[in-house]
Amino acid sequence: MADLDHYWLPFTPNRLFKKDPRLLVRAEGMYFWNDRGDRLLDGCSGLFCCALGHGRPEILDAISQQYQALDFGTPFQYSHPGAFELAGMLADITPGNLNRFFFANSGSEAVDTAMKIALLYHRAGGEGQRQRFVSRERSYHGVNIGGISLSGMVKNRESFGSGLPGVVHMRHTWLEENRFTPGQGEHGEDLADDLQRFVDLYGGDTIAACFVEPIAGSTGILVPPRGYLERLRQICDRHGILLVFDEVITGFGRTGKPFAAQTFGVLPDLITVAKGLSNGAVPMGAVAISDAIYQQITASAPEGGIEFFHGYTYSAHPLACAAGIATQQIFRDEGIFERSAELAPYFLERVFDLRGVPVIRDIRGYGLLGGIELAPAGGLGQRGYAALQRFYAAGLIVRVTADTVILAPALIAEREHVDRICDTLREVLSAL
Ligand SMILES: Cc1ncc(COP(=O)(O)O)c(C=O)c1O
Repeated sequence: MADLDHYWLPFTPNRLFKKDPRLLVRAEGMYFWNDRGDRLLDGCSGLFCCALGHGRPEILDAISQQYQALDFGTPFQYSHPGAFELAGMLADITPGNLNRFFFANSGSEAVDTAMKIALLYHRAGGEGQRQRFVSRERSYHGVNIGGISLSGMVKNRESFGSGLPGVVHMRHTWLEENRFTPGQGEHGEDLADDLQRFVDLYGGDTIAACFVEPIAGSTGILVPPRGYLERLRQICDRHGILLVFDEVITGFGRTGKPFAAQTFGVLPDLITVAKGLSNGAVPMGAVAISDAIYQQITASAPEGGIEFFHGYTYSAHPLACAAGIATQQIFRDEGIFERSAELAPYFLERVFDLRGVPVIRDIRGYGLLGGIELAPAGGLGQRGYAALQRFYAAGLIVRVTADTVILAPALIAEREHVDRICDTLREVLSAL
């Protein structure tokens, strides 16, 4: 096997990992195989990406044909048909008038792109003084400097300076009273009034945008309390603040509709996406932008001039677009979002059945997302890491953040996969 010294793994205790590496060498459908030949059930769609499971032949064909035809399409001042085709397919499923798409290569890039669009939009409308951003404690908006400034996960930001100025955080929405509530909790709508407090403190006309994950994913699945997102929308409307939903995890059927915006019936001005967009086969992210925002920005630029001085060498990369088009086609042709909605009640029932296991402190879930919070033992995250190692030994791959186990099975999962995930969780967690 290759020397393990040179590769620095992301979000991983490298020294520990290298003593006992977990190397995945093959994947198909709902399963991975490791270098020891063990088959492992994928309980987290890779990393929330592989909504269709692994190794779909249609995606392989699309990527391979695209590579043969056009491996790279110069993205500034030139383009290629796949970019327009994918944007059109996305416009068919995004809510309201979010019909314009800017492509990036990751969720992090999508978030930073959305921040810049918000600033540019206000400037174009003569409100360049709107430079503040509001986000939330315990949020995850990627790892670039803009994104970590918004983020509210302490470890992801504490070592990296003070971040962008002018970013303030609302309280998170975890509440003791909502523990073990499937779906949206009854308590906490008023937490949205934190946004109003920032309006009162700083002036609504200094705030560019409010960024939230409709369901906070990486921190351990915090489902919005009933009425909370609606109230954020109202406050944004009253003060001309853009509402941005970061749907990098919740997008593409995770909550039973294409986007959580539709599931919760709240229309944001911008949506950031990645992961499921291309089924994780080729990295891709995007920002969905309302027609009004696009028009205001483009109309304010000089005739014939560039409207947005922003973009990536790999924006709308042909291979990513090919993977994206094939993915979106399967979502549509196989009714994948409906299938996700059908499986969700069973999934949540099985996950919430784990309630009696003594180490579990809270369970949260919505759609095909579940968060199982363990009581910490030793330092923060130690019990979580021990659980992850034992799940792996038992043939299950899940995501663990600190001491919370996160489940996000592929949308093509069957009941038997859900059973196996939950049986393994019960077995391992009962023995912890
Ligand atoms: C809500 C949210 N935003 C942004 C990101 C960053 O995406 P990426 O890791 O592709 O940069 C993530 C990743 O999990 C996410 O969950």
